[in-house]
Amino acid sequence: MTARKTESSSPLDKFGLAHHADGGPIRHARNEHAHHWVPIRDLRPRHRRRILDHLLSLNERDRYLRFGFLAPLEQLSRYVASIDFRRDEVFGIFSRRFQLLAVAHLAAMPGVHVRGSAMEFGVSVLPEGRGKGLGLRLFQHAITHARNRGASHLIIHALAENAPMLRIAAKAGATVERHGQDAEGWLKLPKDTVATHLDSSLQSWAAEAIYRVKYWTAHFSDWLRMLVSSAS
Ligand SMILES: CC(C)(COP(=O)(O)OP(=O)(O)OC[C@H]1O[C@@H](n2cnc3c(N)ncnc32)[C@H](O)[C@@H]1OP(=O)(O)O)[C@@H](O)C(=O)NCCC(=O)NCCS
Repeated sequence: MTARKTESSSPLDKFGLAHHADGGPIRHARNEHAHHWVPIRDLRPRHRRRILDHLLSLNERDRYLRFGFLAPLEQLSRYVASIDFRRDEVFGIFSRRFQLLAVAHLAAMPGVHVRGSAMEFGVSVLPEGRGKGLGLRLFQHAITHARNRGASHLIIHALAENAPMLRIAAKAGATVERHGQDAEGWLKLPKDTVATHLDSSLQSWAAEAIYRVKYWTAHFSDWLRMLVSSAS
């Protein structure tokens, strides 16, 4: 895949999330963003509204691919309200305009012991953020967090037609089995180590710090602009 020229004025440039003037995403060559660190924030109960807004920004087909059925507003609201943030983990990637571009839900599966203790991974990336490795990054992030929680397997349920999701799972080394229209990917996880705990703590801390600095810088600039314009 060849890289096309990035529009340097775009606010999404910094994380390689820029768009062409025609609205299509700029598909970078894989090696161009393979080593590009992306801040992934831990989402909390206070982010429920933003998670719902993110899911509502997906079109019907994407919601179908995400949940396996056409999820209407009420079902999405119930899903978001039911997320147990103590038992599960939810991660998000924000754009420079503080929009929630990608959300991943790492859910404990208490009843599933077929292959040991398992956690399930579900993800969605808004169309403008796709093809830049965010889905894969979130999957890798989930692997580390699932290991730290003592899970022995990470499981993905997707429709067999969901080529990008199955590609992400296969790239991360998951075994993918197809059963008619459905597919299940499962990845055996190594045990957690001091390094995996250190890695997730540092990642979380850095992502939170970067978000807060950007947020306050943006709001302070707005406030300064207002002050200057009201004084003149
Ligand atoms: C699935 C989804 C999360 C992928 O997000 P993303 O950020 O675009 O994913 P990435 O950029 O990390 O990787 C996608 C991979 O799929 C590949 N891909 C994309 N379209 C493809 C297609 N039609 N056929 C085969 N592979 C495809 C990409 O080339 C990339 O592989 P590469 O890294 O080897 O080039 C996103 O498409 C999405 O939100 N879809 C709707 C919701 C959904 O399906 N969720 C998953 C169910 S849990």
